Amino acid sequence: MTMKKIAWKSVIFTCSNKSKSSSLPESDIIDKQVVKQLASFQRLSLSDLSNPSSPLSADDLSNSVIGSKLHVFTLAELRIVTANFSRSNMLGEGGFGPVYKGFVDDKMKPGLKAQPVAVKALDLDGLQGHKEWMAEIIFLGQLRHPHLVKLIGYCWEDEHRLLVYEYMARGSLENQLFKRYSAALPWSTRMKIALGAAKGLAFLHEEDKPVIYRDFKTSNILLDADYTAKLSDFGLAKDGPEGEETHVITRVMGTQGYAAPEYVMTGHLTTMSDVYSFGVVLLELLTGKRAMDNTRSGREQSLVEWARPLMKDPRKLERLIDPRLEGQFSSTGAQKAVALAYKCLSHHPKPRPSMSEVVKALESLQDFQDSFVGPFVYVVPNENDSKENFAKGKEVTRIKEKDSSEENGQRNHVSWRHRVKLPMSMITYSDSGLYKKFVHSLNSPNHHKEKGRDK
Ligand SMILES: Nc1ncnc2c1ncn2[C@@H]1O[C@H](COP(=O)(O)OP(=O)(O)OP(=O)(O)O)[C@@H](O)[C@H]1O
Ligand SMILES: [Mg+2]
Repeated sequence: MTMKKIAWKSVIFTCSNKSKSSSLPESDIIDKQVVKQLASFQRLSLSDLSNPSSPLSADDLSNSVIGSKLHVFTLAELRIVTANFSRSNMLGEGGFGPVYKGFVDDKMKPGLKAQPVAVKALDLDGLQGHKEWMAEIIFLGQLRHPHLVKLIGYCWEDEHRLLVYEYMARGSLENQLFKRYSAALPWSTRMKIALGAAKGLAFLHEEDKPVIYRDFKTSNILLDADYTAKLSDFGLAKDGPEGEETHVITRVMGTQGYAAPEYVMTGHLTTMSDVYSFGVVLLELLTGKRAMDNTRSGREQSLVEWARPLMKDPRKLERLIDPRLEGQFSSTGAQKAVALAYKCLSHHPKPRPSMSEVVKALESLQDFQDSFVGPFVYVVPNENDSKENFAKGKEVTRIKEKDSSEENGQRNHVSWRHRVKLPMSMITYSDSGLYKKFVHSLNSPNHHKEKGRDK
């Protein structure tokens, strides 16, 4: 059954002339009236709000159910907040544009909690644009969860598009994990981060209308002062299949090294594509190595390709776990974490666990203490073992090979997200050569051998 789409005009409502920055405390901004409105509406999708014949305006957005939950800032206000977007306030820069630290309080907006914020500004010459900005507002404006970064507000003035988030004191997992001159993240912290991020993804997948995140990677996992992980960046997020549909077909987009093979090959997108990306991030946490590394040769540039044989051979496992841990981890915990990553990275989506199963598995790994274990033995589970270990979950995670919808009419076109080069950041870029190599490796005899074992 296909859910009826709601035209955005029908969901716009006026907050009884009450400004969004009313005198309510921030936590009460969604007043009872709004909550009622939200309850009676399905969560809105990007497509609900994109009507080419009648495009949404800034006023429409701020008067909508979504806009009512968020503070609307002026560009002048955000200039003040970020010391005129000064370089010294810059936290980083991704494909969307630069991100600045700032501070807001109720002098700026009544009811706004005094707090540090991160202000992300759309690079007007950049590769991302209004659609990604809008996706962020539509998803994060409606979804609230302890493991999703909180969107506080936005600015839409002329061509300017900005987003204001809660500030995450430890920045991205990418920076924390791959920073050269700092202590390695302890094992228990890595497991805590994996669990937090898994809970964020599980929440998205279990929504009445599931959300496929599509860009799960270390740079999109932000960390609080206490290493609580929160997902950011919903620019590529997509509403999952509804009713009897089992997957959506999309233009392949994402970040090289993280995208699931079936998605890259066919454009078929399911929640299982996120599970594969989760497996890549878990592998990065276990190995301390980046998903893509141009200093490795050939197909081993991909962490998964490099790690797969090591994950299957217990004698080589020592080579797999991050040497920076210097043996400070529980051997049982490590065995289980590698087995879980292996499962998530199955070539085929079916054997992958659902994210709620991943959460359960990771919860059981939280109590293993960091302790020196030296070499350890690891046994790769077979399919039957893991079926017992992972009770099967929600309908949406079961994949039937049936097309349900076509987006843009474009298939087999791959767009990798472009990143701006920063000292600490990983470079991911459009590289059709590497992609061809990746596709070739999937079709190689070795791949089929592995595929066979995967079943
Ligand atoms: N809410 C936040 N709190 C603290 N730092 C942040 C926040 N949001 C982003 N940052 C910092 O800004 C950097 C850039 O983030 P952004 O999401 O724009 O790009 P990215 O994830 O690095 O790249 P991509 O465009 O591929 O998503 C992050 O790596 C992080 O260091
Ligand atoms: Mg990002």
